[in-house]
Amino acid sequence: MTRWLVTGAGGMLGRDLVAVLSSAGQTEVTALRRADLDITDPTAVKAAVAGYDVVVNAAAWTDVDAAEADEAAATAVNGTGTRHVAAACAAAGARLLHVSTDYVFPGDATAPYAEDAPTDPVNGYGRSKLAGEVAVRDVLPDTGYVVRTAWLYGEHGPNFVATMLRLAATRDTVDVVDDQRGQPTWSFALAQQLVRLGLAAHAGRAESGAYHGTASGETTWFGLARAVFEEAGLDPARVHPTTSAKFARPARRPAFSVLGHDRWAAAGLAPLPHWRTMLSSARPHTWI
Ligand SMILES: NC(=O)c1ccc[n+]([C@@H]2O[C@H](COP(=O)([O-])OP(=O)(O)OC[C@H]3O[C@@H](n4cnc5c(N)ncnc54)[C@H](OP(=O)(O)O)[C@@H]3O)[C@@H](O)[C@H]2O)c1
Repeated sequence: MTRWLVTGAGGMLGRDLVAVLSSAGQTEVTALRRADLDITDPTAVKAAVAGYDVVVNAAAWTDVDAAEADEAAATAVNGTGTRHVAAACAAAGARLLHVSTDYVFPGDATAPYAEDAPTDPVNGYGRSKLAGEVAVRDVLPDTGYVVRTAWLYGEHGPNFVATMLRLAATRDTVDVVDDQRGQPTWSFALAQQLVRLGLAAHAGRAESGAYHGTASGETTWFGLARAVFEEAGLDPARVHPTTSAKFARPARRPAFSVLGHDRWAAAGLAPLPHWRTMLSSARPHTWI
């Protein structure tokens, strides 16, 4: 039996993680929502982590535009808070799976970013998340796992896929940007992959360091929106392409967020499936 602790358990990914762990067999899970554990409180974090084998840190400041206005507050959670979780794992002898983001990369590449590609975030959220990665690497060089994900959608949180389904019900057409490339990833599938990695880590079969927890393949937000309409039995031609320049936002977004998946093989694990297959499995139109 492995004893798991999930922080940020009330979030979109956190809720799926708790569901997967609750039915995984051979695992025991404690789910701590923000009200139960604030990761910016080092004393509380140390007390909470004691006695666990694997900790998944799914707690984060995830409002990208608000991080641009208050980067220090975002870093207090994503950087310093993560450092507290890592230090508590070191004290408890627990493995840490820390969830990070494609936004640590600059987004100006033309081929998928490898796990060891140089980082260089273009916005405050990316810098705050990079601070968390650095903390995990510093504090847990042998037992810290950074799993970068991107373009997440799931049943239990606001996300792009749900927004498209809502707009489909109220508008004839929707304009969606066609100049950012990425890998739409279902949070439930990521949760399953995190559990597989944690079990491999606990069994000594997975090396520490960075892994990329995104779907295979790639598309644009426009491509994803059309696929969402298709899945829901709606006419995908109602989605029209546009450019990021028409959607000015406080924080810059990386244009190219496609990640490579080579490191999974060394841990005996397959990368996540193709994004289109994953979207069909998720059946998002049944969530609304
Ligand atoms: N969503 C995406 O597209 C995406 C893309 C790349 C990476 N990621 C990463 O994936 C992970 C999970 O994201 P998500 O989409 O599940 O986000 P989410 O739904 O916003 O979940 C994050 C959770 O963390 C909690 N939290 C915030 N500050 C906290 C603190 N100081 N202490 C404890 N808990 C705190 C939040 O609580 P409140 O809601 O009460 O604030 C929320 O429940 C994060 O590390 C995120 O950076 C997400």
